[in-house]
Amino acid sequence: MSITTFAVAGATGRLGRHVVDVLAERGHRVVPMSRATGVDIITGEGLAEALTGVEAIIDVASWHASDQEAATEFFRTSARNLQEVGQKAGVAQIAVASIIGVDKATAGFVAAKKVHEELLLSGPLPVRILRAAQFHEFVGQLLDWQQGGDVAYVPALPTQLVACRTVAEELVDLALAPDAPAPGTPVPEIAGPRRETMAEAARLVGARRGIKVVGVDGSGMPDAEIAANGGFLPGPHAKLAGPTFQEWLDAQP
Ligand SMILES: NC(=O)c1ccc[n+]([C@@H]2O[C@H](COP(=O)([O-])OP(=O)(O)OC[C@H]3O[C@@H](n4cnc5c(N)ncnc54)[C@H](OP(=O)(O)O)[C@@H]3O)[C@@H](O)[C@H]2O)c1
Repeated sequence: MSITTFAVAGATGRLGRHVVDVLAERGHRVVPMSRATGVDIITGEGLAEALTGVEAIIDVASWHASDQEAATEFFRTSARNLQEVGQKAGVAQIAVASIIGVDKATAGFVAAKKVHEELLLSGPLPVRILRAAQFHEFVGQLLDWQQGGDVAYVPALPTQLVACRTVAEELVDLALAPDAPAPGTPVPEIAGPRRETMAEAARLVGARRGIKVVGVDGSGMPDAEIAANGGFLPGPHAKLAGPTFQEWLDAQP
């Protein structure tokens, strides 16, 4: 189908602002949805008005912390509201960003995203899912969470970081593809070109901020063993696309 008007849930977020840019650059009309733009996808404030005349939703809204229960509640409510209010408004389709490895997760934020996928898929609107690796833009956030001090402890767990701009382009391509991925085919994945540990990437950011980054084994983190065994790395069908983390960081002001 040919879509001209998109609503972007989470339009002001790390990924959302790139989704808005990509859509606008390609000539689509965009309705940005976040509390900052007066649309709350949890309370429903402003949602019906925002979705009037919208043909497709791209859902890149997120809960701001890693607590599993609170994140699950957020995604449960957002999925229900976007589906119900979207259907009433005449929206035809939803595309959503998820996380590589959700199918293996048993705990933490990634398990909440599994619930997010399941509830969105339960309809009524058709849903297209893109699972992404952790974002380049997320590494600095990890250091921010460890406020204070000149030493930060970051898990030395394998990852294949990807730029938000790269994810946004892939998500928009998926939303605009004439056909949904065929049933039974693996959920599309997008990741960066290079496997490294989160601690290695964080060390590069730490060097810029004057923070020493110490790699730790991640035990105590949800699903650390699955992560250590590569459970959250892209599968063989994943699309891998640059920039690398180092290239991306070098381009940051
Ligand atoms: N971070 C990663 O490394 C990563 C990796 C793979 C996939 N993902 C997925 O990608 C998506 C986007 O993640 P992100 O890191 O870009 O998130 P983010 O930077 O935390 O942005 C979250 C967005 O959601 C909006 N939002 C929060 N509560 C809302 C509400 N009640 N109503 C409307 N909007 C609300 C926020 O805007 P306001 O505060 O203005 O409401 C913001 O625009 C998420 O689904 C995440 O799971 C993330």
